[in-house]
Amino acid sequence: TQLSLLGLSGSLRRASNSTAVLRGLQNALGSRAALDIFPLHAIPLYNEDDDAEHAPESVRALRSAIEASYGVIMISPEYNHGMSGVLKNALDWASRPYGLSALKGKPVLTMTASPAFTGGVRAQQQMYETLASIPARPVFRPQIVIGGVHEKVRDGRLIDEAALSFALAGVDDLLEEIRAARFVRAAA
Ligand code: FNR
Repeated sequence: TQLSLLGLSGSLRRASNSTAVLRGLQNALGSRAALDIFPLHAIPLYNEDDDAEHAPESVRALRSAIEASYGVIMISPEYNHGMSGVLKNALDWASRPYGLSALKGKPVLTMTASPAFTGGVRAQQQMYETLASIPARPVFRPQIVIGGVHEKVRDGRLIDEAALSFALAGVDDLLEEIRAARFVRAAA
């Protein structure tokens, strides 16, 4: 069976390089897995008053999409050495109401991209810490960081072969993690 993955991009802008990485992966994955991108534009600022029965429609849709997926690929720009507030805000919504995190136990691959040669790496640890709290199941592997990303994107899509195969190796590890998690559940 083809595994369905959910892609979340921490950048909302139209010409986002981060979103372009997800689009490039959509293309490159072929039959390995399906990758749907869930746009975060409609997610409001987190408010605990509304996180249970009054959750906004966009937040419900995000939680359902995460629950329906086998795993998540999360990519963020590095904003002032952290993940983007857009992504953190979405993760806060997805993690609640307390005890009902849509991301609980979900295999997640983190990626960062930046025009800088450091590739947004300073945001990775923060993503990892947040996922540990949720608690998701971040894939424990060398980080996927894409430096000089603006030169590797064409027409809204990552096209650089080296960057694509670097990122695809991470996706392969994510798929492995998903299969292992399912195997363990089946054996229990
Ligand atoms: C940035 N940028 C940036 N880049 C970086 O490598 N380290 C950083 O700490 C920051 N900080 C930062 C803060 C803010 C508020 C902005 C708007 C930008 C530059 C950033 O990497 C660049 O704008 C990317 O192109 C943003 O990602 P998208 O939108 O292309 O996905």
